[in-house]
Amino acid sequence: MKNLVVFASGSGSNFQSIIDAIKDGSLNAIITGFITNKAEAYSLERAKKYDIPNVVINPNNFDSEREYVSTLVSQLQDWNADLLILAGYLKKIPSEVINKYDQRILNIHPSLLPKFGGKGFYGIKVHEAVIASGDTESGCTVHIVTEEYDKGPILGQSKVSVSPSDTVEDLSKKVLIEEHKLFPDTIQTYIQTLKNK
Ligand code: GRF
Repeated sequence: MKNLVVFASGSGSNFQSIIDAIKDGSLNAIITGFITNKAEAYSLERAKKYDIPNVVINPNNFDSEREYVSTLVSQLQDWNADLLILAGYLKKIPSEVINKYDQRILNIHPSLLPKFGGKGFYGIKVHEAVIASGDTESGCTVHIVTEEYDKGPILGQSKVSVSPSDTVEDLSKKVLIEEHKLFPDTIQTYIQTLKNK
């Protein structure tokens, strides 16, 4: 059984889909901890509701990057993290953590990477750019986190069609429905591959 530590900055609907997949038995893992950078994030309420150990770690509240990184790493060690799951986490993961958890950090991005990825493409900005481009399809991607934003190996993608009348909200809703299936399914598949290593 793998231990997941989930990171989120927002509402945490993807976090919820992971909680639900574990409950219904389709994802064979335990969430040993939850980290947010925002004390007011609704995702933190979800962690509390399900008695998932949680902490607010805001990089801006540390005197130095070194202090921040060592707090983060010792928390991950306390929770025996096997995999770090970025479910709408808006802070950059420090290089030291990326190296320490090499191939063990997964992120979900609301576009068909490599399209509409990289610095500046987050949240509704992604959907705005997709609509502005006139693309007729979009979707979501789960990938391994590396040092370069949104560039790590792709583990899974799911597509939605974009119609000319779609607003940013319409597209965001359609993509989120796919995210909620893709993320837990991809984590489960990835866990299976880790077992065979
Ligand atoms: C999702 O669209 C995800 O792809 C992106 O951030 C959003 C988080 O949504 N990385 P939620 O907080 O899981 O509802």
